[in-house]
Amino acid sequence: DSSSDSARADGFAPVGTITDLDRQGQILNKEFDRGSILVIRNPSDPKNVNAVNPTCTHAGCTVSWDSDQKLFACPCHGSQFAPDGKVVQGPAEEPLTAYEAKLEGNIILAKK
Ligand code: FES
Repeated sequence: DSSSDSARADGFAPVGTITDLDRQGQILNKEFDRGSILVIRNPSDPKNVNAVNPTCTHAGCTVSWDSDQKLFACPCHGSQFAPDGKVVQGPAEEPLTAYEAKLEGNIILAKK
């Protein structure tokens, strides 16, 4: 496959940098695993990151990170999800898809 995607033997691929994460508060990468990935600092363990697919499981809107409430919030019908993707408030009933993610220096890697 001739994509420029640099997936590695261990299945992790770069999705952004810590520099950008800290500048923006969240990183949305729309070309991950044929979908989107949204990365945040783990609120309870800020040396690590959480990564989810930001597609709301209710009706497919894109959630964003609310750093005050420490929740992913959906703009369409008000669903809220915890940093690991679990439903905090409906109408969504299924969690966001979570990705395994880790840091290598300044690079954020997530597993496809
Ligand atoms: Fe997210 Fe309905 S699409 S709450």
